[in-house]
Amino acid sequence: ASEVGAAAVLVGNNVAGPLGGTLGSVGEGRLPTGGLLQPDFDALLGRAGQPATVTLVTQSRTITTRNVIAQTTTGRTDEVVMAGAHLDSVPEGPGINDNGSGSAAQLELAVRLGGAPPVTNAVRFAWWGAEEVGLLGSTAYVQGLTPEARRDIAVLLNADMLASPNPAYFVYDGDDSDRQGAPPGPRGSEGIERTLADALTAAGVQPRGTDFDGRSDYGPFVEAGIPSGGLFSGAEEVKTPEQATLWGGRAGAPYDACYHQACDSLTNIDRVALDRMLDALAVGVGTYAVDLGGPNG
Ligand code: PHE
Ligand code: ZN
Ligand code: ZN
Ligand code: ZN
Repeated sequence: ASEVGAAAVLVGNNVAGPLGGTLGSVGEGRLPTGGLLQPDFDALLGRAGQPATVTLVTQSRTITTRNVIAQTTTGRTDEVVMAGAHLDSVPEGPGINDNGSGSAAQLELAVRLGGAPPVTNAVRFAWWGAEEVGLLGSTAYVQGLTPEARRDIAVLLNADMLASPNPAYFVYDGDDSDRQGAPPGPRGSEGIERTLADALTAAGVQPRGTDFDGRSDYGPFVEAGIPSGGLFSGAEEVKTPEQATLWGGRAGAPYDACYHQACDSLTNIDRVALDRMLDALAVGVGTYAVDLGGPNG
């Protein structure tokens, strides 16, 4: 396990008034009993100068959180296939879809794979800490690698939200270009999206691509130039009529109406979606563990 120093933020009372002062100038507040919260700095900045009700930072403390890392004893350790899922939730709820679903899928995959599978490339699983407070675990991990250890990671597959109750079947990879004519392996980067998309198709659904938005643990890997991609069943955004035709479920309703809320409980899971996403993740990890493809594969 690697330790991550997390600068967590506690928030105080709501204060109404014109913005524009310094955050630290509000000195008193009631500490919440519910745990750690983050103020919405974008909303604060976007409304600077306007009267508004905002939550202001009054105190902070430092806590320690951990990543859990497990790697096969077999396979090349200079061409590591990584799979990552964040283990923490927001304090408002239990985080079963976000991200018990990704964490559990990855655990099931690790159990099925075993510690010493006959693979070409080592498989390294990471369960990240402190994603919800700013990708802290994955960032600390990537920053803590030597340049050589970074180069030894061939690919990262990210599992964050795989069982949304009104599911989408999104795949993404580390760039925004379209994927036609791309080489099949992770060195082409586009290949990750195609590999996962083909796996979802085989699992019985038609996937769609979605852009990286930096909101999950692939962010630090992409920044470090490590080919990355992943699966996503959707969060607070609304399913379109076309998507409902494609995937079923309710058009005009969020993919996950309980996103970051107390109701993200065991009833907030679509088990069919979870099964399909797990199968696709297994194909992705298994494919790259055997053959990375591309010119250097
Ligand atoms: N990382 C976001 C969260 O944990 C959810 C998310 C996953 C958003 C993947 C975009 C893409 O809340
Ligand atoms: Zn979240
Ligand atoms: Zn998440
Ligand atoms: Zn792409």
